Amino acid sequence: MQVITIANQKGGVGKTTTAVALGGLLAGQGKRVLLVDLDPQGSLTSYFGHDPDTLQGSVHDIFTSVLNPDGRREVPADLPAQLLRDTTCPGLMLLPASTLQATLERKLAGVEGMGLVLRKALGHLRDEFDFVLLDNTPVLGVLLINSLAACERILIPVQTEFLALMGLERMLHTLTMVMRSQKRLLPYIIVPTMFDRRTGASIKSLRRIKHDYPETAWRYAIPIDTRFRDASQAGLVPSLFDPSTHGVKAYTRLLQDLIGTIEDTGLT
Ligand SMILES: Nc1ncnc2c1ncn2[C@@H]1O[C@H](COP(=O)(O)OP(=O)(O)O)[C@@H](O)[C@H]1O
Ligand SMILES: [Mg+2]
Repeated sequence: MQVITIANQKGGVGKTTTAVALGGLLAGQGKRVLLVDLDPQGSLTSYFGHDPDTLQGSVHDIFTSVLNPDGRREVPADLPAQLLRDTTCPGLMLLPASTLQATLERKLAGVEGMGLVLRKALGHLRDEFDFVLLDNTPVLGVLLINSLAACERILIPVQTEFLALMGLERMLHTLTMVMRSQKRLLPYIIVPTMFDRRTGASIKSLRRIKHDYPETAWRYAIPIDTRFRDASQAGLVPSLFDPSTHGVKAYTRLLQDLIGTIEDTGLT
């Protein structure tokens, strides 16, 4: 099982879209894929027609399951599997979000041993999935820290626009701190998104990303494509909604590059 997290401390950069697009493509290749919605806003959960305000059984239950007085923080072995839901895409499952997750940051502040809860939960699903994609909140807190501790690699979507690079620097700073405290190296790829080749601002910021991060920026960019919004309104992964769009082709290329590097490092 390979766990990939999709993170940026800025909202609206294409995190959820990247999770859905890559998840759909992997499932289309016959992989068993799990999407996990860590964001209390629950966009990924809403994408597949569930209401994060009313839904029963979510990521929230995993975090509250370990709040026992013995302090062992063990996730019950059968719990994660009970929370999974099918999606409109065969082979793609969802571990949904509840808006209650927003209360976790306050509830868990100062509670010892909460950093590895998600990692332990996913450990119980190890034999069920080939890939797990984690969709994140932009807020730096216990959920994002858990996500970074549970993954083998990170995708950082960055919108190709004027102010995006500041958010990117913040995210990379967080990543450096986390890697230092966990004493491990986490490979990451910066993925330029919503690239619009008709605008100077988009071209300039893509050039800047490639210049400033020559080793870690993906060699291409995800173009702006209105079909992503149409796909989300239809509740379908983009590759099932319309496999021929530029956006889907770009995510297919990203996936090829990702899988290539995973095989290079022998992680599959
Ligand atoms: N490449 C793209 N082209 C056009 N619209 C996009 C693209 N990627 C994402 N969007 C749209 O932009 C909005 C924000 O994207 P989203 O993936 O929800 O960002 P995040 O999860 O980082 O907040 C959504 O309405 C989504 O449909
Ligand atoms: Mg999102």
